[in-house]
Amino acid sequence: MTDTPPADPDDVAPAVAELDTIVSLSKRRGFIFPSSEIYGGINAVWDYGPLGVELKNNVKRAWWRSMVQERDDIVGLDAGILMHPQVWVTSGHVGSFSDPLVECQTDHRRFRLDELPGAEGLSATDLQDPGIVERLGLKCPVDGGPLSAPRRFNLMFKTFMGPVEEDASVIYLRPETAQGSYVNFKNVQQSSRKKLPFGIAQIGKSFRNEISPGNFVFRMREFEQMEMQYFVRPEAEAAAAFEDWLPARRAWYERFGVTPSRLRLREHAPDELAHYAKKAVDVEYRFPFGWKELEGVHNRGDFDLSRHSEASGETLEYFDQATNEHVIPWVVETAAGADRAAFTFLIDAYREEEVRGETRVSLALHPDLAPYKVAVLPLLKKRPEIVTLCHAIKTDLQRHTMAVYDDTAAIGKLYRRQDEIGTPWCITVDVDSLDDDAVTVRDRDTMNQERIPVEGVTRLILDRLDAARAR
Ligand code: GAP
Repeated sequence: MTDTPPADPDDVAPAVAELDTIVSLSKRRGFIFPSSEIYGGINAVWDYGPLGVELKNNVKRAWWRSMVQERDDIVGLDAGILMHPQVWVTSGHVGSFSDPLVECQTDHRRFRLDELPGAEGLSATDLQDPGIVERLGLKCPVDGGPLSAPRRFNLMFKTFMGPVEEDASVIYLRPETAQGSYVNFKNVQQSSRKKLPFGIAQIGKSFRNEISPGNFVFRMREFEQMEMQYFVRPEAEAAAAFEDWLPARRAWYERFGVTPSRLRLREHAPDELAHYAKKAVDVEYRFPFGWKELEGVHNRGDFDLSRHSEASGETLEYFDQATNEHVIPWVVETAAGADRAAFTFLIDAYREEEVRGETRVSLALHPDLAPYKVAVLPLLKKRPEIVTLCHAIKTDLQRHTMAVYDDTAAIGKLYRRQDEIGTPWCITVDVDSLDDDAVTVRDRDTMNQERIPVEGVTRLILDRLDAARAR
């Protein structure tokens, strides 16, 4: 099932050579801004601007549609970010949700061991070795100073609940949404009357105090996850469900436009597996900074429900009427990031081409993901009848989908602006429209233009959106 990684990971070129191209487009056009920028920013938190929030909402909607709406065996949940602190003890996060940290003895900067030059690609066993820094002669990458031996650094954010800041009131911001689904297993199963196998899907914020966040929105301290926990009968059914979910999750990215050759599967080595996992395979994407995890598919065995049953005293079993048995379900988890997915779609959609001696930048986003589906543009904004017709067309479209009007430049520039933000279709109203009741519809990717009667234009756009969704 698992692909063999290419011998040279660079043999697939990234969609964009420099990450900066995407960072600056995101800022310039209002996709993503540094958080609290007027105060100098805060590391590893990013804000989504007017176009970014549309893109990310569309990604989340597309995920929800394929995981919940289009299926009969998965239901949704929205659990709290704050949970009983015992949840995180039981789940193993208090004890072992940590990364290896080293500290420079001279400037006291801290680094994640496996991200130091010379330590990339170390096995999980090596990363636990207290003598590893000395053995490899690792030095501080900033000032060349000596580094401490690695120690484990817990990634959970702590805060206090209630008016007293004392140990007894410590709680955590959740580092994953999954635990909300486990502790609600019984509530969901009994209220929805689902039979095994069935899943619980959640989208929501998670928080990790990452030692070395970076690469724009790839690794943040506040981010959003799209996770689904699929509860199945033990062992054989879990293994089979895993083999079904893995290609399905890869295919989801392809369905929404990610270039298949820039996706691959990578299985975790036994010493790399998270404390809960029996098997884990990452769907990886070829980012401008290398092959990196986009989503994880995990066979978690009965770890979660067994542990929560034991610790809470509440039996999280399922009564199988077919066999008259009580079973603790196993879990196959698909764990994706909404930010990482939106970032991937953005990068993979980026196109630059020469058109009549000029560079045309476009985002070939899947129409379902594009922030605006359609822009309505006047050829002559000085003619009030043209502007009035534009607004009438746009208002009709807005009843169904995201449409925008723009008259702040000449038509060529207006097209380029829409191309750069990924708007799949532009509708242009010209002088002839006033006589023939027809408008020009321009396609972002082919730049083909066709003349369409005004009365059919909303239907045409909606039909094209439907057709793109069905592909
Ligand atoms: N419940 C299992 C779990 O949380 P994970 O591999 O740690 O698994 C799942 O996280 C996904 O969440 C990742 O594949 C990634 O897309 C996203 N993610 C994790 N940490 C992130 C971070 N610091 N910034 C942005 N996205 C992150």
